[in-house]
Amino acid sequence: MKIDILTLFPESFAPFEESIIQRARKKGAIQINVIDIRTFSKDKHKKCDDTPFGGGAGMLMSVQPVYDAVASVKKKSSKVIYPSPSGQVFSSQMAKELAKQKHLIFICGHYEGIDQRLIDIFDAQEISIGDYVLTGGEIPTMAIVDALSRFVPGVISEESLQEESFSNGLLEHPQYTRPRVFQGREVPKVLLSGNHQKIKEFQLQESLKKTKKVRPDLLKGEK
Ligand SMILES: C[S@@+](CC[C@H](N)C(=O)[O-])C[C@H]1O[C@@H](n2cnc3c(N)ncnc32)[C@H](O)[C@@H]1O
Repeated sequence: MKIDILTLFPESFAPFEESIIQRARKKGAIQINVIDIRTFSKDKHKKCDDTPFGGGAGMLMSVQPVYDAVASVKKKSSKVIYPSPSGQVFSSQMAKELAKQKHLIFICGHYEGIDQRLIDIFDAQEISIGDYVLTGGEIPTMAIVDALSRFVPGVISEESLQEESFSNGLLEHPQYTRPRVFQGREVPKVLLSGNHQKIKEFQLQESLKKTKKVRPDLLKGEK
């Protein structure tokens, strides 16, 4: 899986030099390239913003550098993603689907975003990470790339994926580690019993209890 990330702020992607994503990059399970949109600007001052037609507050990203940056990496089979508050809300299922693609291109918006024609020309999928507005598309891109990378074969173990929140439509059950008693709070006894059947039943009950309390919409199949 190859991922090209187009941004005005390439240094924002330092987190991809760490931990699981960095290991996946090193062993070749995923290839991530961060590309500076500004280097494509034909403006003599490398300007990358412009005023929106029709007026209104703020600036838009200039069309030319974004277009040229996408065109420099796009192949026939590439899928273009534009993280945007007005996109479909991201989910584990979407992450799983995106992980099947060969080549993804992310356009990180800034200011008031990008020209609609870029979305149309590249048939970009707009994806929102929630009903709020961030200052730029770098954090949404990081969230989406991180989540989908987990479903790329070889990035994490199959077993870890199966026991995760949303894998069976529920939130994960609470987890505990040593010590058995911490600040007077004991680990549930069944987890120390060694009885795997009982442990599984307990964890499923806890999972259901938590989902009912925190995300009842998941139980009603609303999400
Ligand atoms: C300040 S926002 C632009 C908001 C836009 N004018 C609107 O009202 O929908 C700048 C950029 O941040 C990114 N962004 C902000 N919030 C986001 C969200 N909830 N999900 C995905 N991307 C988001 C997008 O790439 C967007 O182009």
